[in-house]
Amino acid sequence: MPMLQIKHLTHYFGGLRAVYDFNLEMEQGDLVGLIGPNGAGKTTIFNLVTGAYRPTEGEVLLDGENLVGMRPHEITTRGIARTFQTIRLWNELSVLDNICIARASRIQYGLVDSILHGKRYWDEERQIKRRAFDLLAMFGLDKEAHEAAKNLPYGEQRKVEIARALATEPRLLLLDEPAAGMNPGEISDLMEFIQQIRRDFNLAIWIIEHQMRVIMNICERIKVVDFGETIAYGTPEEIRNNPRVIEAYLGEEAFDAA
Ligand SMILES: Nc1ncnc2c1ncn2[C@@H]1O[C@H](COP(=O)(O)OP(=O)(O)O)[C@@H](O)[C@H]1O
Ligand SMILES: [Mg+2]
Repeated sequence: MPMLQIKHLTHYFGGLRAVYDFNLEMEQGDLVGLIGPNGAGKTTIFNLVTGAYRPTEGEVLLDGENLVGMRPHEITTRGIARTFQTIRLWNELSVLDNICIARASRIQYGLVDSILHGKRYWDEERQIKRRAFDLLAMFGLDKEAHEAAKNLPYGEQRKVEIARALATEPRLLLLDEPAAGMNPGEISDLMEFIQQIRRDFNLAIWIIEHQMRVIMNICERIKVVDFGETIAYGTPEEIRNNPRVIEAYLGEEAFDAA
């Protein structure tokens, strides 16, 4: 049984068909790309998988369990984490606190513990802080741990957002245009960073990206959508030479830049 299995996923916004009959299977350790022109339905697919929207039709199975109808936090607990197209950090909070809050989805102590602030609660709190700090250290962000998130450079904020997603201990990580707004140096860093995450955490990564350099260099397989429909699926080499893909991207600079 594949770890992730998406079957016939379809979504309408009123009369607009944003996603139609989308299918995908992923295993632990996979690195899959999702590309397509603006408005093709990519972010909507992530929103359907993470429970932000309920699909009009179709199934999202994680280890055989159907996630459709679950609330986003229930899906997080089952092992799917994401980042957003525009960074969503708690700007005024420290980098460390941004990570700690995410770990709340994994907190083991019960309601009574938290009311009485018993020993278990404080042990748990200490452990959350330590693990959050370790996570930051892995990414060279420990020196910024007590800085307000908004004071970090853009590329670092992206890393904090990814670290925060990892704090929920996902088996599948969804990245929505992580390279958006980055300069070429930051993009190279990001590519290295994503590959490091896959190695160190042994999880599956599914990435939407407009920067073809990122997609073509790090993904093993790429799915291409246009107007909500899958138009191609294959290796970077197959996608690069696919006439339907080239046609869909006519007029877009992104593809030429690869
Ligand atoms: N919440 C929404 N309500 C109505 N239409 C939406 C909503 N979100 C996205 N859309 C529409 O669905 C289509 C796909 O959008 P989106 O998934 O954001 O595309 P992409 O991420 O590929 O650029 C677009 O036509 C967009 O305008
Ligand atoms: Mg999008």
